[in-house]
Amino acid sequence: MKHIVITGASKGIGRATAELFVRSGARVFNLSRSPSGLEGVTDVKVDLGHQGAQAVLESQLVPLLDGQVDVLIHNAARLVNDTLQTTSASELNNILMINVVGPQMLNHVLLPLMREGSALLYIGSTLGEKAVANSFSYVTSKHAMIGMMRASCQDLAGTGIHTACVCPGFTDTEMLRAHVGDDASVLQVIGGLSTFGRLIEPEEIAETIRFCADHPVINGAVLHANLGQKES
Ligand SMILES: NC(=O)c1ccc[n+]([C@@H]2O[C@H](COP(=O)([O-])OP(=O)(O)OC[C@H]3O[C@@H](n4cnc5c(N)ncnc54)[C@H](OP(=O)(O)O)[C@@H]3O)[C@@H](O)[C@H]2O)c1
Repeated sequence: MKHIVITGASKGIGRATAELFVRSGARVFNLSRSPSGLEGVTDVKVDLGHQGAQAVLESQLVPLLDGQVDVLIHNAARLVNDTLQTTSASELNNILMINVVGPQMLNHVLLPLMREGSALLYIGSTLGEKAVANSFSYVTSKHAMIGMMRASCQDLAGTGIHTACVCPGFTDTEMLRAHVGDDASVLQVIGGLSTFGRLIEPEEIAETIRFCADHPVINGAVLHANLGQKES
């Protein structure tokens, strides 16, 4: 039975991905501050932005895994409205801890349990390769994540472990809703920014993540899963 470790499966894209893997018969381990509440998912409570996270991973997660991780998915992230002018170094550091350093903490702990055929997947964003105003720390962290994935691909050469970065577009989750103040009219406008004229469902991103996990030919790749964004 495959072992899937995913961060941030208490909500949104992570939760939909955990459900999909459970349905395919895998054992899923979720790392987040609140539980997924999903049958078949083992929740390990951890704040990836906290200094004590590595100790939690080593003492509570690793013993559950029986020495086996087949898919590791770095999905948890924090998005705040901030700018170049207003962001202090410690505020940037807080976001980087969750969005960039947390994934590497997990890589460091779990890579020794990953064998040939396993997958290391990063969840990036359209904002990993372009920028908008008022999302300074997030844009910075998502660009870093693509760099991490590319460097991972090079360093994993010869191991049989493949890696990719799935970059969702506007997906209907708490993160997006909170970002726009849960305003239905703004969400409709945002949906209209895709060539399909709608928001993405978390399940659509989950299917993309699973496809990447199952296909080692997708290695070192950045996959934009965004319904085609309109260019102005
Ligand atoms: N939604 C979009 O439009 C969109 C677009 C592009 C990229 N993405 C990316 O897709 C991924 C999932 O986003 P989403 O929209 O599904 O977000 P979401 O609904 O806000 O879920 C975020 C998840 O991250 C976890 N998380 C946040 N801070 C954490 C921390 N300090 N420690 C541990 N877990 C933490 C949350 O769990 P707890 O709160 O329980 O800790 C939650 O499960 C993210 O990487 C995001 O950047 C989303």
